[in-house]
Amino acid sequence: MANSNRVVVITGGGSGIGLAIAQAFADNGDKVAILGRTKEKLDIASESHENLYGFSCDIQQEESVKETIQAIHDQLGKISVLVNNAGLQRIHSVEEFPLEDWEQVIGTILTGTFLMTKYTLPDMQEAEWGRVITISSGHGRRPDKYKSAYVAAKYGQIGFTDTVAMENAQKGITANSILPGATDTELIQNQLGELAKKDGTSKQEALETHILGAQWMKELIQPEEIGALAVFLASDGAAKITGESIGITGGE
Ligand SMILES: NC(=O)c1ccc[n+]([C@@H]2O[C@H](COP(=O)([O-])OP(=O)(O)OC[C@H]3O[C@@H](n4cnc5c(N)ncnc54)[C@H](O)[C@@H]3O)[C@@H](O)[C@H]2O)c1
Repeated sequence: MANSNRVVVITGGGSGIGLAIAQAFADNGDKVAILGRTKEKLDIASESHENLYGFSCDIQQEESVKETIQAIHDQLGKISVLVNNAGLQRIHSVEEFPLEDWEQVIGTILTGTFLMTKYTLPDMQEAEWGRVITISSGHGRRPDKYKSAYVAAKYGQIGFTDTVAMENAQKGITANSILPGATDTELIQNQLGELAKKDGTSKQEALETHILGAQWMKELIQPEEIGALAVFLASDGAAKITGESIGITGGE
């Protein structure tokens, strides 16, 4: 398959890392479906490039996923690349973690990744060409205080993605996880206040302690750097890279 003019689906594509990945694929000449729950955010995002198309979808809900995949088929065609990017963070110690918050994090990150992969794989299997790219996290191989649901979901995403890689290894489909370190998006900015409150410190100290403490370069990752890696993983040059967890961390 040519490495452009494909249908690429990106969950949580209306902001942050997902939008940067979407723009990287759009610049590459692909048709990119960006999925999210907020139509207004998707409308604004899809105006940033002629190859971006917004689709409202709650990836935790099976019916919503099925309907959205059908709408993408009708409007754009069969799907070649899936980027499982949607995610969210909830911060509590384990003994104080509300079940509702736990289910929201696991439901979006883990169940959402499962449902999106389940309903996009058949197109890739039919074409005998496909790419599944999961945006896990540095917390997919290293824990952090107060983030038990997120850490559990991010470790789980890697195990799931590796299983997809194994099941589809002889069908022209690769599946890999990208593990970003702290990246300059709202997800990080929103955590700093809560972390500072838990520790009784300033936001700057929370950034240095929790976010950049062990990182070698002492610089946040830029979302565009993750977009460039995703486009490479979706190219024929990466055809033999599968079942891998690739860090983009600034050193750790
Ligand atoms: N920012 C970082 O430092 C960092 C580091 C490592 C990994 N990540 C991961 O990268 C991914 C993107 O994070 P980001 O920093 O761009 O955050 P973000 O909050 O800007 O983006 C997350 C997106 O997911 C969407 N989303 C959440 N729940 C959804 C649902 N049920 N259905 C559909 N969409 C949903 C949100 O609306 C949002 O657009 C996440 O999986 C995150 O865990 C981020």
